[in-house]
Amino acid sequence: MKTICLLSQKGGSGKSTVACSLAVCADKHDKGVLIIDLDPQSTATKWHERREDETPFVVPAQPIKVQEAVSQAEKDGADLVLIDTPPHSTGAISKALDASDLILIPCRASINDIDAIENSVNIAGYHKKDAAVLINGLPPNAPNMFRDVQEAITETYDVPVLPVFLSQRADFVHSATVGKTPVDFAPNSKAAAEVEALYKHLMHTKQGILKRLFTK
Ligand SMILES: Nc1ncnc2c1ncn2[C@@H]1O[C@H](COP(=O)(O)OP(=O)(O)O)[C@@H](O)[C@H]1O
Ligand SMILES: [Mg+2]
Repeated sequence: MKTICLLSQKGGSGKSTVACSLAVCADKHDKGVLIIDLDPQSTATKWHERREDETPFVVPAQPIKVQEAVSQAEKDGADLVLIDTPPHSTGAISKALDASDLILIPCRASINDIDAIENSVNIAGYHKKDAAVLINGLPPNAPNMFRDVQEAITETYDVPVLPVFLSQRADFVHSATVGKTPVDFAPNSKAAAEVEALYKHLMHTKQGILKRLFTK
């Protein structure tokens, strides 16, 4: 089982969107998947309430109980657990970080957002966990921007940037209104293809050697 914690101090960077999108993708590939929602704003939980399908499962949890929820998921045969966290999360989510194999830090493509990931990178380092930045919301018509943002991040921080990214796409916004994600709302869309590429990259990378396989 792989446990991925979505972490960023900034609201709106894409933590909940990425958690829900990856979960639906895993579900589509017949994997057992669970989202543990640690955010008091309950974005993932409310998304699930709007959803027709029961899967992927979302459980709201107190941060202190997260280890139990992860252990239970493993006993139940889950392949993937995604932990969605609130912005400005501090010591409260340290148990979630300890329970994770990978800390995934979504970051939008702007200098303010790049500045704002410093805390998350430090928190991941403090917990001695593999961490990686996912560039989210990249403008679709700016071909050099991925490389520029990737360079800006790796020049500033000791953290790898995933070679796959998510562009700014309306399908992420529209699908969420009906408790879906691009993968089930618009399966042939570019947004769905990007989510699939992200999912494959994360799931086909063996646990424990995650860091070596990410580009720097
Ligand atoms: N790649 C994207 N393209 C378009 N909209 C996005 C994208 N990622 C996130 N959003 C939108 O941005 C808003 C904030 O995203 P969310 O996942 O809730 O952020 P966080 O959980 O980090 O606060 C939501 O309305 C979501 O639909
Ligand atoms: Mg959120």
